[in-house]
Amino acid sequence: MLERVLSMRRSSPHPDDAGAGVTSADESKTKKQSRASILISRVTNHLARLPHVIPCAWPVLLLCLVFVFLVPTLIRISRNVVCVSDPFDPVSRARFFGFDGLESDFGSLGVPWCRPRHGKTVEWTSKDLIKGLEEFLPIYEQRPIKNNMFGMGFDHSFGLWFMTRWLKPDIMIESGAFKGHSTWVLRQAMPDTRIISVTPRHPEKYLKKGPAYVDGNCTYFAGKDFIDFGSMDWKAVMRKHGITDLSRVLVFFDDHQNELKRLKQALKAGFRHMIFEDNYDTGTGDHYSLRQICDQDYVRGGGHSCFKDSDEARIRSRRKKFWEKAVDVDELCGHNEAWWGVRGYMRDNFNHSNTPMSQAQHFQNSRFLESVLDVYWELPPVAGPSLTHQSRYDPARTVPPIVEDGRYALFQRLGLSRLDNSVFNGYTQMVYVQVSEQ
Ligand SMILES: C[S@@+](CC[C@H](N)C(=O)[O-])C[C@H]1O[C@@H](n2cnc3c(N)ncnc32)[C@H](O)[C@@H]1O
Repeated sequence: MLERVLSMRRSSPHPDDAGAGVTSADESKTKKQSRASILISRVTNHLARLPHVIPCAWPVLLLCLVFVFLVPTLIRISRNVVCVSDPFDPVSRARFFGFDGLESDFGSLGVPWCRPRHGKTVEWTSKDLIKGLEEFLPIYEQRPIKNNMFGMGFDHSFGLWFMTRWLKPDIMIESGAFKGHSTWVLRQAMPDTRIISVTPRHPEKYLKKGPAYVDGNCTYFAGKDFIDFGSMDWKAVMRKHGITDLSRVLVFFDDHQNELKRLKQALKAGFRHMIFEDNYDTGTGDHYSLRQICDQDYVRGGGHSCFKDSDEARIRSRRKKFWEKAVDVDELCGHNEAWWGVRGYMRDNFNHSNTPMSQAQHFQNSRFLESVLDVYWELPPVAGPSLTHQSRYDPARTVPPIVEDGRYALFQRLGLSRLDNSVFNGYTQMVYVQVSEQ
């Protein structure tokens, strides 16, 4: 791994590295070429001294020499050209994270993970996920809202459907419905279960302009009836719907609010199962997320360096050229080298509000979260970027995908190759959490 990181750094087109990198690469290329020409001339000299060599063998020998010396040089040159000319080129990206052995930088950038109190995890396995994918694909193809820009794409739609179907709640609450795509996904998972949808604008309003989904077995707190999740009298609402066991309720948040705030509100109401759609990575997104909260110095893959000459800075700068959501240290770090949250801020409400936060506060937030956490599970991306051609999330900051890079036969067998590439571009580490009070 270290060797790979080092070789990546040597060929890095980062301006800081350019001088040294280019010079040494050129030097070694010159050395290799001069060694090659010495060898060629030695071989030809030797052959010239052999008049008995059959004349028709000469073209074959020359061809061999071309293959041995010229072709690898041409391949090396063309690779460098691909790398520099189009940073989002899928071929160069594919090479970057696997096919030429340069796997993602786990360990260097890593994936921070929230630590549940008793080390408990989910019941489902990767086999269950693959089976689920096979089942979900034809359902997804029937979705009423084909273009769900600003809403969920394929990865999270699958995750929400799979987890809801597995958990089989007695009632589902969603906060943030937009045109109703997530309501439709919940309905596909549980055809007869009540949904409560809390969203400022009623999805029926979107029907005037195009496709939207309004559910017949759903109570909407929308439009003039909108009440924020945190202000709702959940006891009364649950009683009204005959729910007595709150551990049978699933809450889905896709409302871009501070997730610490939402988690505390849900705990207060007595809910235990939650799915957060946008579990943004540190330095990104418009609200403070669980992933950000758990990104701490003491967690593997967590804690960051704002030092511009660090290994992390070099890796980040290189990855930014390939992945749209990757952030380099300039973007990651704010005033006084604050890297936590987003540049030391706790964002809320689509970033309409943001509050500066000390590292000590950020640390306390993770202590609180871990003190109530029973399960933390991030949905993996459905398939590797070389299969989906997505270019947004950085695979060095996610868990391995369900269908890993290189498994094209499986990708095709599951029918995933039928989907438009654009549906794979919305992955933001959707997370399922189970909590209970201390
Ligand atoms: C990203 S969209 C939701 C997308 C939807 N879940 C889907 O998959 O298509 C965010 C939604 O949250 C709504 N929203 C804004 N503030 C909210 C709040 N305080 N509570 C609930 N929803 C809110 C917005 O109006 C918008 O409809």
